[in-house]
Amino acid sequence: MLWFYSDVGHTQEAKKELVEIVQFDSSEEVFITPKPTRLIQRILQIASDKDSIILDSFAGSGTTAHAVPKQNAEDGGQRQFILVEMEPKVAVDVTAERVRRVAMGYTNANGKAVGGLGSGFQFCRLSEKPLFEADGQLYTALLSGL
Ligand SMILES: C[S@@+](CC[C@H](N)C(=O)[O-])C[C@H]1O[C@@H](n2cnc3c(N)ncnc32)[C@H](O)[C@@H]1O
Repeated sequence: MLWFYSDVGHTQEAKKELVEIVQFDSSEEVFITPKPTRLIQRILQIASDKDSIILDSFAGSGTTAHAVPKQNAEDGGQRQFILVEMEPKVAVDVTAERVRRVAMGYTNANGKAVGGLGSGFQFCRLSEKPLFEADGQLYTALLSGL
């Protein structure tokens, strides 16, 4: 199967999407190979159900958390996501910041207001404690004040 740039985007498109949402102090800080949301949406269309939980254990710039609510908005889905990012600064300044802005709306780099997609999220710091309690609830001591 061939996926063309025109259908699923490319790295330059992904960088443009990213810098429109999250500010970076310098161009060196921008991710080298972020994924375009259109690419992740194509994967969601093929490989998920409308109520799937999507795991991305290399979250980086948070494209997955952007693509999931976009896809939900397009097809009426209720997918949720779990992202894991090991670099604290990336997790706070980029991944979580992107998710927050996508959910709540933001003013893009051109000064245009972009409406939020309405999803929410919880930010947890992992430790030696298990992430989930026996009843499936998040271990609340891990919830950050973000
Ligand atoms: C190439 S980036 C991911 C790009 C992402 N798909 C996007 O569109 O932005 C890989 C990320 O995974 C993180 N990472 C690498 N090893 C990891 C691990 N073992 N657990 C969690 N995150 C990890 C890195 O810090 C980096 O931010």
